[in-house]
Amino acid sequence: MLPDSSPHYPVMLNEVIDHVSPNPKNLILDATFGCGGYSKRILELFSKTKIIAFDRDEQVHQYANLIKKKFKNRFEFVNEKFSEIEKIIINKSYKVDHFIFDFGISSFQLDNYKRGFSFKSNAKLDMRMGKNKISAYELVNEASFEDLNNIIKFFGEDKDSKKIAREIEKSRKIKSITTTDELRSVILKAKGNRYFKKDPCTQTFQSIRMVVNQELTEIFKTLSRLVSIAKNETCFTAVTFHSLEDKIVKKIFNYSKETNQNPSRYHPQLNNKKESAFIKTSGKSMKPTESEIKLNPRSRSAKLRFSIKYGDDQLEINRRSLKMEKLFDLEKKYNV
Ligand SMILES: C[S@@+](CC[C@H](N)C(=O)[O-])C[C@H]1O[C@@H](n2cnc3c(N)ncnc32)[C@H](O)[C@@H]1O
Repeated sequence: MLPDSSPHYPVMLNEVIDHVSPNPKNLILDATFGCGGYSKRILELFSKTKIIAFDRDEQVHQYANLIKKKFKNRFEFVNEKFSEIEKIIINKSYKVDHFIFDFGISSFQLDNYKRGFSFKSNAKLDMRMGKNKISAYELVNEASFEDLNNIIKFFGEDKDSKKIAREIEKSRKIKSITTTDELRSVILKAKGNRYFKKDPCTQTFQSIRMVVNQELTEIFKTLSRLVSIAKNETCFTAVTFHSLEDKIVKKIFNYSKETNQNPSRYHPQLNNKKESAFIKTSGKSMKPTESEIKLNPRSRSAKLRFSIKYGDDQLEINRRSLKMEKLFDLEKKYNV
């Protein structure tokens, strides 16, 4: 059962709450409001804490309005992408104490078949979370064979990427692929009649959704910038669901470890960059408990990482060291 009949089960809610300081003056930024599971519980538990929440999906206004009605001036909702946080909030000299991110898609979006995210029900191919430049329909019908192969291979980590990209190319020459059912048939045709542990469409649908919403670019751009400009003792919590999301978060949260390490005996000039500000992480990622996974199987791939920035100086976090330029380039190419 979902708490308070919300359409989204807030993943690792207890673990997120455990990292929130009960300091009454705290200002928290919930960067991925969704159906407000995190925001609501924090406002209930900490009676003086204020929250500013962001979400790119305008359909979550209905949940934000409910929270606003109950918590009044302790809660503000902004219908924008989290990459706009710096422009909208930080530049107004708000001092945010804790940024919370819960990446990916919500059950509210996935289960609304009209949004075209799911291969489980037929709808127009769409997959836009909000504030997008393109839809899945445009990507699937316009991307080159090579790019489709790379999107399905790198974002979806699907070994059959080439076969699927080829089948998409063949099919759309005859007629555009307009619905989730049509895309599903194309994938199943490419995969052939084999046994699969999970639905054979999962990875292709996920990869297309990630590029349509420029998800990795949004995460790197926002998190690296906010960590970089954050003031002393600002906290960051990030819940991820995909290995590539976690790779970005881990790299940013471990940034200081790499730059502050001791200079090498052989290359003293390469590693001796000392920053006066640094990030301290809680170390290993946390995973949902067995009982949470039983209650909400969608939580099984979740990972939570927490970090604190110390010092007021800005940090320069270099994207190239992630070795994911190909993926960022693909997201950019189809979002102009
Ligand atoms: C997993 S849900 C969050 C659920 C939320 N923690 C709750 O308890 O209900 C992710 C949400 O983040 C939003 N989102 C994804 N990428 C975003 C972005 N770049 N900017 C703002 N919101 C984003 C999605 O629209 C979705 O509503």
